[in-house]
Amino acid sequence: MKGSIIVNTDWEQGVINKNIYGQFAEHLGRCIYEGLWVGQESPIPNTDGIRNDVVEALKRLNIPVLRWPGGCFADEYHWKDGVGPKENRKRMVNTHWGGVVENNHFGTHEFFQLCELLNAEPYICGNVGSGTVQEMSEWVEYMTFDGESPMAAWRQENGREKPWKLKYFGVGNENWGCGGNMRPEYYADLYRRYQTYVRNYGDNRIYRIAGGANVDDYRWTEVLMREAGYLMDGLSLHNYTVPGTWEAKRQALGFDEAEWFETMKKSLHMDELITRHSAIMDKYDPDKRVGLIVDEWGTWFLTEPGTNPGFLYQQNTMRDALVAGLHLHIFHNHHDRVQMTNIAQMVNVLQAMVLTEGPAMLLTPTYHVFEMFKVHQDAQALATHTKLGNYEYDGDSIPQVSVSASKAQDGYIHISLCNVHPGESANLNLELRGLEEVKEISGVVLVSDEMQAHNTFDQPERVKKAAFTSFQQQGQRLDIVLPPMSVVMLAIAP
Ligand code: AHR
Repeated sequence: MKGSIIVNTDWEQGVINKNIYGQFAEHLGRCIYEGLWVGQESPIPNTDGIRNDVVEALKRLNIPVLRWPGGCFADEYHWKDGVGPKENRKRMVNTHWGGVVENNHFGTHEFFQLCELLNAEPYICGNVGSGTVQEMSEWVEYMTFDGESPMAAWRQENGREKPWKLKYFGVGNENWGCGGNMRPEYYADLYRRYQTYVRNYGDNRIYRIAGGANVDDYRWTEVLMREAGYLMDGLSLHNYTVPGTWEAKRQALGFDEAEWFETMKKSLHMDELITRHSAIMDKYDPDKRVGLIVDEWGTWFLTEPGTNPGFLYQQNTMRDALVAGLHLHIFHNHHDRVQMTNIAQMVNVLQAMVLTEGPAMLLTPTYHVFEMFKVHQDAQALATHTKLGNYEYDGDSIPQVSVSASKAQDGYIHISLCNVHPGESANLNLELRGLEEVKEISGVVLVSDEMQAHNTFDQPERVKKAAFTSFQQQGQRLDIVLPPMSVVMLAIAP
């Protein structure tokens, strides 16, 4: 395929909120336990129980915000079980995820410590489905109140003198499903009630996020915006990329080109979802005060054979890398409405950044995309114009190349490119319009010659970044050869 791209380097469109690069960690499978938390007694090197190797790797992603404790777990979680001396913490059953014992050793204090280690903003999801207003309100008091009160005193007794800063708070999760099977009218009323008691103590200001729609449930968004839009700062949206169907999911490995194509096409569906949900939000909130918070997205395949089906552990291939790149580009394009997203999930669950096995850890292809793309965080989106061909498969077609450009605060211009075709390069002519002088250009690529390429504990570096040099510069023009199934990041020095 031959194509052309114009990047208008002097035409800024607005900020790509860094929170688009947010993550999600749930008490699900081996995400929290084993993946992030090993306990102080573990031979795996840790800081107060939090594993050092995983934290070190994740720090390199500049994770802006971390959502916790769920997911479906959030609407079954009673935070009081997870504070105080560990030996007294309640052992309970994680009914939603595998029916395993949850010993509550990772709770509020441990979560804030993890966020501090990662330098990420905490985003806590409260329990509407099975929790009370009082429980939610006391949690906020426990975390953020700096005065004399029963919850502040309890926090101090538990070793934390000063309150934490908490910005993001979700009022329930998937309340149309695992969070209570509610109708939007009913949830909208509950949202209004619960959020009233999510107080701003002192100078702590909470950004309240209402539980939003599942995929294309536009009526949910309509009702929520109509009935409660004025009381929320954000409204969530969940959509997973599921080749096959929910009932008959496909494998993370062992797929063919038909499934590759289907996965890419389903990833691009995110654009339509955001456009249509945003249009409804625009009706009630034309100034775009309320952010669309895509706080769960990513691939969802059959669980890895031989693992607990309730643990949602799956491998991660070049296909996942392209899915990540396409989604991030779509989120950039909707930077006026999309203020945060949280890929599911950070470690060992679904489209993870990191996989662990005992003391071993590996970085997935998705990790590398997040690492390469972090330069877009809080940068100014630049207008691009493209003339590009399609990837055709079995009578169907999708755009072959996706591109996004931004200008960072230090003046660097970054251009990310995804070629979703598994067998064809893309020959691109890229014009850096508006740039008087093009100085140094460097590139990084994530590529493989196999769709299924992935990292294993035996071969942890099979898929990794490399320098990208397949371009030639003539003044403001670049001739680029984008290899099949590749993700590229170009950096143009100011
Ligand atoms: O991320 C896994 C699960 O997917 C979450 O717990 C839930 O919110 C969603 O259905």
